[in-house]
Amino acid sequence: MSRLLVKPCRHGLKGRCQPPGDKSISHRLAILGGLAQGETRIRGFLEAEDTRATLAAMAAMGAEVSEQGDVIRIRGGRLRAPDSPLDLGNSGTGMRLLCGALAGRPELLGQRLTLIGDASLSSRPMGRVCDPLSLMGACIRSREGRAPLDIEPAPLQGIEYALPVAIAQIKSALLLAGLVAEGTTTLLEPGPSRDHSERLLPAFGAAVKQSPGQVAIQGGQALTGIECRVPGDLSSATFAMAAALLVPDSDVVFDNLGINPTRDGILRIFRAMGGQVVIEEESSLGAEPVARLRLSSAPLRGIDVPPEWVPLAIDEFPMLMAMAAAVEGTTRIRGAEELRVKESDRLAVMSEQLRHLGVNVEETPDGAVIQGGRVSGGRVDSHGDHRIAMSLAVLGLVADAPVEIDNAQWIRTSYPVFVDDMNALGAGIEWQEDN
Ligand code: S3P
Repeated sequence: MSRLLVKPCRHGLKGRCQPPGDKSISHRLAILGGLAQGETRIRGFLEAEDTRATLAAMAAMGAEVSEQGDVIRIRGGRLRAPDSPLDLGNSGTGMRLLCGALAGRPELLGQRLTLIGDASLSSRPMGRVCDPLSLMGACIRSREGRAPLDIEPAPLQGIEYALPVAIAQIKSALLLAGLVAEGTTTLLEPGPSRDHSERLLPAFGAAVKQSPGQVAIQGGQALTGIECRVPGDLSSATFAMAAALLVPDSDVVFDNLGINPTRDGILRIFRAMGGQVVIEEESSLGAEPVARLRLSSAPLRGIDVPPEWVPLAIDEFPMLMAMAAAVEGTTRIRGAEELRVKESDRLAVMSEQLRHLGVNVEETPDGAVIQGGRVSGGRVDSHGDHRIAMSLAVLGLVADAPVEIDNAQWIRTSYPVFVDDMNALGAGIEWQEDN
């Protein structure tokens, strides 16, 4: 086990931060690159365990993956079932998207694949992807709706399907399945969720038809490899951004940051709390909007988070809960029950860890009510969840005394260089190894 020791920060954080490549986009590029004919060249692919697991899965199925400097080349095309199970580690996105991508691949018909993951991933719901895929004709056996998943690729039929919740992973899995299904697959969305798949599929040559609340894909479309660069991950940047807002006298510039409007809920939340968030320059990387952002410390206050913002900031709630603990006033979160089936039950785990630091938190079935104010030092645990480890580390910068975070090694699933990036801005965070 590795522990983080975070000392209260007595001076402002300053400098520039280039957050790592976007996790969602990196997963999708690994998969699409492996399915596409010809070569895909990716710069800025996220160097982390989750995205490596997806890339390794594509390589195990015969995609040729090579690396030179910061360029990853994938030569895709005809996949074949590997001899051993595909291990997606901790990654829900990897497992769910691959499930959709593989369930109907014509070149895999008559073969068998098994998708496995670690203890956390094996406890997360997979029925939400497997059930609609079964309606399309997919043959997937789960363990009561959980991984391991045994897939016998089968010919698929397009369907019209109303997504029960605004969740990008189900939408993306069904779009990837729809790509090889007979006819059209039409998905009705109850609200917006991240649209990286809808932006990337056309770049690879597959048309996607979008209208408000609806997205459709025609089966039988071929994919061709592309050359691209991955924007910086707004979800990873959230930690240093929150620190820049919270630690007095801070001023930090974030370069090349993805600001896709289906992902930018945290910027809306920061601003509603009184945060200084300035977009200095906007441009685009392929089909994704990017920007240079400047964040400076300002007095923040608690807010009522509008429930419709939840899907737009779904991964940022651990950090928001930690921030809420350190600012004036009360923060109320509602409509966020989805947080209970992430890498951990984020509502329960964050509520409990904040209480260890003297914070007054009321956990509710779909959210939490957090009274902000002073945060004491103490010892907390990530419960195997990368975003909880990083959120608590940021909170430690504004606590009254040092904060120790057990099981912080999980950070490597999404942001292995988090501590280096924070310390480059002036934070004092140290790794401590347990013998
Ligand atoms: C992701 C979608 C989100 C997010 C996850 C990545 C994606 O999950 O929490 O980290 O890449 O599609 P849901 O789609 O389950 O909300």
